[in-house]
Amino acid sequence: MKKIVIASSNKHKVSEISINIQPFFDTILSLSDFPNIGEIIEDGTTIEENSFIKSRASFKYTGLASVADDTILEVDHLNGEPGLYTARYAGEQATYNQNMDKLIKELHGVEMNMRTARFRTVISYVDGVNDFHVEGILEGKILKNKIGKNGFGYDPIFYVDKYDKSLAQINSSLKNDISHRGLAIKKFVSKIKELYK
Ligand code: IMP
Repeated sequence: MKKIVIASSNKHKVSEISINIQPFFDTILSLSDFPNIGEIIEDGTTIEENSFIKSRASFKYTGLASVADDTILEVDHLNGEPGLYTARYAGEQATYNQNMDKLIKELHGVEMNMRTARFRTVISYVDGVNDFHVEGILEGKILKNKIGKNGFGYDPIFYVDKYDKSLAQINSSLKNDISHRGLAIKKFVSKIKELYK
């Protein structure tokens, strides 16, 4: 029986990873299947550390191979902020709009060519023997205003030069193809294929 735990309770995240790794496992679980695991404190100083904190905690608790997926946004002019605070840039319970508004404000008066940024997704895998992580990166620029209706998070203010569009103006299948998360998932799947062939 090949089993894996996705160290998240976020339904969207769990289903996105599940769809891609389904061929290699008999059972795919998530942290919703382990309600007593308790809170996992992500007190690392890098995205890689935080990702491994989650996948290791899940492996320790469940005894099963575990995978965690994390994304941050790094803005060069702000020395890499929001970074580890990407989800809660404008405060603990901040909405996507509040986070975007804060970023637009922080970059007020900064010219377009100085607004370079990137999304980084790290996926870590822990089974106690073959631990590894992969990364996907999407380079872009932070727009001065929100444009487009698709996607989530910072998509309306993340401009992709190649398409001359914000991520919120791009359809979901193209976004999956070019995005940080899409790239990380592709790398992850090819590693899993090797391990579970
Ligand atoms: P998570 O680690 O996947 O939960 O992502 C952390 C935060 O990054 C989310 O709350 C979003 O604000 C932001 N984020 C992650 N992925 C994307 C994306 O593809 N587009 C825009 N924002 C994203």
